[in-house]
Amino acid sequence: MPIISQPEQYHENDLFVDLHRTFGRKLYLKCEGFNFAGSIKLKAARAMVEAAEASGVLRPGSVLVESSSGNLGVALSILAASKGYGFVCVTDSRCNLATKQLIEAMGGTVHTITEPAADGGFLGARLQLVKKLRESDDRYVWLNQYANPNNALAHFWGTAPAIAERFPDLQVAFIGAGTTGTLMGCARYFKENRPEVKVVAVDAVGSVTFGGPSLPRQIPGLGTGVRPPLLDRSYVDDVVHVDEVDTIRACRRLARRGFLFGGSTGTVISGALRWLDEYAPGADVTAVAVAPDMGDRYLDSVYHRGWVEEIYGSAALAGEFEELGELSMMTTTGVV
Ligand SMILES: Cc1ncc(COP(=O)(O)O)c(C=O)c1O
Repeated sequence: MPIISQPEQYHENDLFVDLHRTFGRKLYLKCEGFNFAGSIKLKAARAMVEAAEASGVLRPGSVLVESSSGNLGVALSILAASKGYGFVCVTDSRCNLATKQLIEAMGGTVHTITEPAADGGFLGARLQLVKKLRESDDRYVWLNQYANPNNALAHFWGTAPAIAERFPDLQVAFIGAGTTGTLMGCARYFKENRPEVKVVAVDAVGSVTFGGPSLPRQIPGLGTGVRPPLLDRSYVDDVVHVDEVDTIRACRRLARRGFLFGGSTGTVISGALRWLDEYAPGADVTAVAVAPDMGDRYLDSVYHRGWVEEIYGSAALAGEFEELGELSMMTTTGVV
């Protein structure tokens, strides 16, 4: 284990969970939640901050301002505290309380948008406030995770090579799409270095990233109300859209195995399983999915029965106990 003096210096990049026991597929989950920010966003934040410092845009006295559904906000609040910058996070009402408290605990300020913009939804409204803040004071620096090439480069240099090295026989990579930084960085890496690997984007139903109408969504991380400028569709082999109910079911099923992952991990797993069932039924395909964060920030949503029933109806939880019975039966018969 390394000894560090600044929080951003540690990021577990080599941990994978084998999902075969839970889902019966040769699907591995790359865990990005083991670092002081608790999410994959530490990589993007670090790459964007270091590039802004190198170019002279970010200097002593600067105040970072960013629109984030939460995780980038936490990552930037860590970097700002570590390096001595101010930080203002513009988020919306879907951001969970624990995330906002984390940002504030590290000295950041949180603005929560409660009304979506007529054009662009919550993200549109968040970006309007970022613009207003920047116009009010020239100490504000907006890294703009939606268009900043360093967001994707962090994954081109870090995330994708770690997957490629661990899985020389990799056939499919499933990557969730938020800003599309992870997706574009990984997709570019595989196209340039391992062109035989299929890159499948996983998005939420109701996201406009790959077309289709904007619909209300509750789970932060994946999906957008404004198409991210980083996206270059030509690098992506296929796209799967996942309903939030399926996201919840995948998360809760893994939790019953002792793996508590964040909401978007449920989306990516659910999309991956559907894609594999459709395009590789019965085949022994080696696949990796990226898990952006862990589940403890979702205890009052994805893992809260009352919240799930209120938002999605009790049908969303139907089958949970049968599934458990099924699992214990499989265990006693030695199938698992
Ligand atoms: C929980 C979670 N899932 C998924 C993503 C999507 O990653 P990206 O913005 O690189 O597309 C993020 C990024 O903020 C996230 O925090």
